[in-house]
Amino acid sequence: MEYKGATIWMTGLSGSGKSTVANMLAKRLRAVGARVEILDGDVVRTNLSKGLGFSKEDRDTNIRRIGFVCNLLSRNGVFAIAAAISPYKAIRDEVRAAAGDFVEVFADCPLDTLVERDAKGLYKKALAGEIKNFTGVSDPYEPPESPEVRVDSSRQTAEESTEIVWRYLIEAGLLKL
Ligand code: ADX
Repeated sequence: MEYKGATIWMTGLSGSGKSTVANMLAKRLRAVGARVEILDGDVVRTNLSKGLGFSKEDRDTNIRRIGFVCNLLSRNGVFAIAAAISPYKAIRDEVRAAAGDFVEVFADCPLDTLVERDAKGLYKKALAGEIKNFTGVSDPYEPPESPEVRVDSSRQTAEESTEIVWRYLIEAGLLKL
């Protein structure tokens, strides 16, 4: 097995499956001996980005920090998997421009499905106006125009989505088994 590290950037609405796929992918990569770290928005916001909110400015700061750490890791031979909504295209592209190998994975799930699923109960609150600036409801999400990979948790199982990312890594020569 050969690899040199890369940033795998999962973007998409809350509940679209970013963390689930990130965790499954990490497990598969570790199983073949690769070094992996996950930078999950929810987790990063409890430490590195503690105190940041959800204004555009705070989200941009959060994403820049995650991108910065991904770069440090990936240039040291680690697969750095980011799982953050990262709603603004310009900042994702800024992170991409500063990165080495960069794989943007768009977790593209219809909003209706997410609202129906409402795993964390946040959409209900957002729709009732109890959470302000909630992505997809009362705050923008700018989808990637040409992501390297697109997955959809309304049509695939998490295993299938993970397999799609896995296959891309192999096809792109980022992972040689
Ligand atoms: S990002 O916009 O800065 O990339 P990030 O992925 O770190 O967001 O955090 C998103 C998570 O924060 C969501 O999954 C949800 O649990 C929580 N959250 C709380 N308030 C909001 C909000 N206003 N918009 C989106 N997510 C929110």
